[in-house]
Amino acid sequence: MSHNPWAANVKFENGQLNVAGISATELAAEYGTPAFILDEDDFKARASAFVNAMQKSFDSSTVYYASKAFPCKQIVRWIHELGMGIDVATGGELEVALSMEFPAHRIEVHGNNKSLAEIDRAVNAGVGCIVIDSLQEIPRVAEAAKKYGKTQAVMIRLNPGVEAHTIEAIATAHTDVKFGLSIASGMAWDAVLEIAKYRELDFRGVHAHIGSQIFNMDGHRLTINRLLDFMARYRDEFNRELPDVDFGGGFGIVYTADDAPLAIEDAVSQIKTAIVEGCAARNLKVPHVAIEPGRSIVGPSMFTLYEVGTTKEVKLDNGGTRNYISVDGGMSDNIRPGLYGAIYEAHLANRTSSAPTESSRLVGKHCETGDILIRDIDLPADIAPGDLIAIPATGAYNRSMASNYNHVPRPPVIAVRNGAAKVIVRRETYEDLLRLDLI
Ligand code: LLP
Repeated sequence: MSHNPWAANVKFENGQLNVAGISATELAAEYGTPAFILDEDDFKARASAFVNAMQKSFDSSTVYYASKAFPCKQIVRWIHELGMGIDVATGGELEVALSMEFPAHRIEVHGNNKSLAEIDRAVNAGVGCIVIDSLQEIPRVAEAAKKYGKTQAVMIRLNPGVEAHTIEAIATAHTDVKFGLSIASGMAWDAVLEIAKYRELDFRGVHAHIGSQIFNMDGHRLTINRLLDFMARYRDEFNRELPDVDFGGGFGIVYTADDAPLAIEDAVSQIKTAIVEGCAARNLKVPHVAIEPGRSIVGPSMFTLYEVGTTKEVKLDNGGTRNYISVDGGMSDNIRPGLYGAIYEAHLANRTSSAPTESSRLVGKHCETGDILIRDIDLPADIAPGDLIAIPATGAYNRSMASNYNHVPRPPVIAVRNGAAKVIVRRETYEDLLRLDLI
């Protein structure tokens, strides 16, 4: 098992980072910094690994790419070419997919508060499935379906009351979260009865997403069993088996050498075992099985390339010193350390250094003390302005959660493959930022 956070085609040659044949120095010179660099083959290999593992495990399956991790037109095209589905959580993500003529029947729509306009657009476009996340949403979707003379396939997002992040999965009687309809409280069953009232709705099955960056499948196993219980109850009361089940995403990735996620094939094979055994125990047919990985497809395939602008030796109260290394991005292109305490690694990317390492803090350029990319890291003491720093595993929830704080333009995304690079999302300009101001 690899604890390597870098995309498959990233190598260090004499201290120079090289991705699929292009060096960090060349990328910085051509495209500027900060920039997100995407290893195209790595992205496609991860996506294909999920598809292949699911096809091997189930007669009928779909892998939906969770586009919230990183949505853009080029990604939509690749996902289409790979024969996958797309999960969208907002009207904006839906527009990215539709703008590329992604087949609507392979789009699944999420959201705990879908607006009437979003529902209308989704139903009109002919999306494959809308995942119901509240009781109020049911008549809204039915209304839109009626308006367009359609039958809309829907699933219910269940809250199975599973705490995903513990080794021993802990079942909670009720969970204090905004997502899903709780099985335990009876709200989920109320949704089933409500959906049954509408001829315009085709109730396909149940969905759950129990969390993110999960390293073992205990939570998924428990969830699978709760969802299958629910499906068995439905069969018993409605005399019909639900054809679809979807277990969401959440598969963990390597951010630092301490992270030890399951290989994609192992995670899927554990899901398979739980589903096949769970269905047999309840005398259910194995349904169409879907998953929605986001992070585990795009996360490891990108790194962020920064240039060092300033360094500062700060004397600490305990007598020590800390080297503050400031790069030309920060919390606007990676809010995860600030928001979640996420931990990253960073590497000098343009040269080797034989200098001793020193206790360092990698910070951004924003007017905020908390603008910290890496709180504690040992980096070579001779890092100086002009050096390049790369942070791996920034493909998921970095560009997609980027902001314009301090009116900093958001970085581009550059895809690299076989020695060729292309811009798939261009760098924002000051003009872009000023465009919305009306005066
Ligand atoms: N499906 C549903 C319904 C979800 O809510 C999510 C993530 C996914 C799939 C994809 O999960 P993944 O495979 O990427 O873990 N911004 C946070 C992560 C939020 C995830 C929200 N939902 C972060 O930066 O860690």
